[in-house]
Amino acid sequence: MKINDLISKLDTKRFGFKVAKVNHFDKKSEKLLIALKKQGVKLILSKVNAEDITLINTLEELGFCIKDIQVTYKYDLTDYTPKNISFDSDFMIRDAGKSDIPKLKKVALESFKNYGHYFEDKKLDPIKCAGIYSDWIERSCKDKNIADKIIVAEHKGDIAGFLSFKIYNDNTYKYAAGGLGSVAEKYRNKDIFRMIMVAGLNWGKEMKLHWEEHNVIITNFPVNRSMSKLGFKVYKSFVTMHHWIKKK
Ligand SMILES: CC(C)(COP(=O)(O)OP(=O)(O)OC[C@H]1O[C@@H](n2cnc3c(N)ncnc32)[C@H](O)[C@@H]1OP(=O)(O)O)[C@@H](O)C(=O)NCCC(=O)NCCS
Repeated sequence: MKINDLISKLDTKRFGFKVAKVNHFDKKSEKLLIALKKQGVKLILSKVNAEDITLINTLEELGFCIKDIQVTYKYDLTDYTPKNISFDSDFMIRDAGKSDIPKLKKVALESFKNYGHYFEDKKLDPIKCAGIYSDWIERSCKDKNIADKIIVAEHKGDIAGFLSFKIYNDNTYKYAAGGLGSVAEKYRNKDIFRMIMVAGLNWGKEMKLHWEEHNVIITNFPVNRSMSKLGFKVYKSFVTMHHWIKKK
């Protein structure tokens, strides 16, 4: 992997300085840091398998800090029978279209205030961090490389909630991973997210996917609860670490 391929164009543009994403380290992590520093990188973002405590400790010694801990929930669709979506009749489940972008962005903006590893890094501009999720859902509506499907729950013309999916196919298995999902504040705790996830599982079965999976921050109790209640099972976990490269 070339050093240049590690630079995140999106984050570099957003924050106005070079940001790299490094998720695989060999034994020469120190050499990699020197090479990234030479390229003018200021911040490194890394997602590391939570089981690899040796690597996490090495990165800590190099100055990396943990900014979130996530688990990945999986739902095996091989024996799944599509479920009914039991909803108040005022609600409707449908796919998102481009005309939904302004409303989706508004829900994302209010839902992800102070959420996630970017916000946990107090050296990052919180106003720029706030734009990450609303930009993400906009790009998800416009670009199939980011999302193949976005399910929304609509309530009398209002977007109550949404969840995006990206399909992956490695020749043996075909599965979908959740991208971004949230429910607008005034619609929370009414089972809306669970109904959207059921609609997602039903779609996954139709698409002949082997499974669906979602990453969840371990302290996000409402989502963890919804996943467990639906029968999703945790099968891997990772930590997100940030490292600011010192000038000297
Ligand atoms: C997480 C989120 C999508 C849940 O949406 P929702 O429609 O309210 O979810 P549901 O109603 O289906 O289920 C929520 C469950 O969490 C429970 N819950 C709510 N707050 C809780 C808390 N602080 N601790 C534990 N459980 C909690 C609810 O009681 C409910 O469980 P129950 O029906 O068994 O009682 C919504 O809160 C949200 O958008 N949060 C901000 C963005 C976000 O976290 N997105 C997900 C990223 S992976």
